Amino acid sequence: MRKKIVAGNWKMNLLDEEVINFIVDFNSRKNEIESDSEIIILPASIYLDTMISMPDWDIKIGAQNCSQFNNGAYTGEISAAMLRDFDYDSENLHYCLVGHSERREYFNEQNDVLAEKVNRLIENGLKPIYCCGEELQHRESESHFDWVQAQIEEGLFHLKEEELKQVVIAYEPVWAIGTGKTATSNQAQEMHAFIRSLIAKKYGDSTANSISILYGGSCKPENASELFDQPDIDGGLIGGASLKVDSFIQIINSF
Ligand code: 13P
Repeated sequence: MRKKIVAGNWKMNLLDEEVINFIVDFNSRKNEIESDSEIIILPASIYLDTMISMPDWDIKIGAQNCSQFNNGAYTGEISAAMLRDFDYDSENLHYCLVGHSERREYFNEQNDVLAEKVNRLIENGLKPIYCCGEELQHRESESHFDWVQAQIEEGLFHLKEEELKQVVIAYEPVWAIGTGKTATSNQAQEMHAFIRSLIAKKYGDSTANSISILYGGSCKPENASELFDQPDIDGGLIGGASLKVDSFIQIINSF
């Protein structure tokens, strides 16, 4: 009923030649893909153009960040309207990450700013992939549900129901990102069900059941099937393992 998604967040990795090699290799191995999940790749913004213009490309593309402002004197920023404008004809660029924990941590992005980014994307016809997740200290002090609840409510719950339906949520416990330490499938399922219950309380069951919630944090070929088998886990947001065609395809085929 809801979309299954495997998204590769390339972060600040791969240079031009590596991007092209990835795409050529991936295209040539498309027949190995056995899953009908939606595949998204989120490269660094400077390579969006390369990704969009590669022929034979039937996967979706997303940016990793956008500005909370419409336009103006914000040096170094890229607006949601620019992202939309960029790919107006080919319609490949559908998504943009919002609130990845690395942006929250290193660029001090708070829920109120992230709510504005979500607004700019929706106004421009792009789908936010809204990231949330607790740090180790929250889990150890058992405040992880409260923490994630605040991220979801403050970042998303100002939206109208039809707007919220444009959003994909990614739960990424910070302690599991790039550490090799994955949340157990029970821990992940528990949080995904909790997030869905928050949406159900505010927007109703039907909306809650229509929203894809992805898991991210050391997701790899060895653990992807067990995670994706959980009833409230609708796919993955993959970091390191999305940089290699082999492991990315294995994860996609874990559905
Ligand atoms: P890793 O898969 O490298 O842990 O990264 C997860 C992530 O941050 C995806 O956005």
